[in-house]
Amino acid sequence: MAIKKGIILAAGKATRLHPTSLAFGKQLMAIYDKPMIYYPLATLMAAGIRDVLIIVTPRDKPLFETLLGNGSQWGISISYAEQHKQDGIAGAFLIGEKFIGGDNCCLILGDNFFHGPGLDGILKKAGGAIDGARIFCCHVDEPSAYGVAVLDAAGKVTRLVEKPKELISNWCATGLYFYDNQACEIAKSLKPSARGELEITDLNIRYLEQGKLSAVTLDASYHWFDLGTHGNIHDASQFIRDHEKRTGKKIGCLDEVAYTNGLISREQLMENASKIGNPAYAEYIRNVAVEAA
Ligand code: G1P
Repeated sequence: MAIKKGIILAAGKATRLHPTSLAFGKQLMAIYDKPMIYYPLATLMAAGIRDVLIIVTPRDKPLFETLLGNGSQWGISISYAEQHKQDGIAGAFLIGEKFIGGDNCCLILGDNFFHGPGLDGILKKAGGAIDGARIFCCHVDEPSAYGVAVLDAAGKVTRLVEKPKELISNWCATGLYFYDNQACEIAKSLKPSARGELEITDLNIRYLEQGKLSAVTLDASYHWFDLGTHGNIHDASQFIRDHEKRTGKKIGCLDEVAYTNGLISREQLMENASKIGNPAYAEYIRNVAVEAA
């Protein structure tokens, strides 16, 4: 059964972005011409996910509700859950247990940006029948700030380490994960790490120990950014601006993603455009219907 449910974790402390993130969460900040959260939400929608839970802080909840509503304008369902204590990424499965119910689920970090050729198809395929867990790895220059996967010659994960001090591999485990229905149970049995967090890497290691962890490797033609630093926010914004200027195509335009994936009608698309005060952005949305015709 293909994965239809997805969780976006948007409740972190974002201390690396202080003072910018002192008053509100980073996922509400602009990455070039859209709020950061648009990008992971577009990734989920492109993966075929229609039911989304966004985990937010109580402080930011009204802002997210104002920005995204219940998702009906994009033909999806968006609900919100509050995280009161930032206890790590795997904590999403404790908060999201009721939402997940008996289904499989995708998790994406609200500060992760993905773009690349045929990515929609790769995600739809990866989110198909899943028995275990699936991670997405990118080859990076400095992996020590991330979860790192050691892969064998066949691309199989042999080891997974969170923020390793020594270079064990350049394959970084990005913040996008697909899980079967075991994830909540495993999350409940995790113990906090030395930094006091329920680590997503520990959850993935449990799957690895069961022989049920697979990795999709994204080569250099794919762009991935962890938008947790000002430098990466700048680089991603520059990348999106260059791409949009060069191609005339937006990245992460939710109205476009919804329409081209058959989630909304032409009328809904036009209604969405009418609510955008930025004339160039509204015109772009209107043109989506013309181009798709
Ligand atoms: C988290 C995960 C790490 C992953 C990264 C991707 O790190 O713990 O495994 O590689 O997200 O963005 P954090 O950003 O919480 O330091």
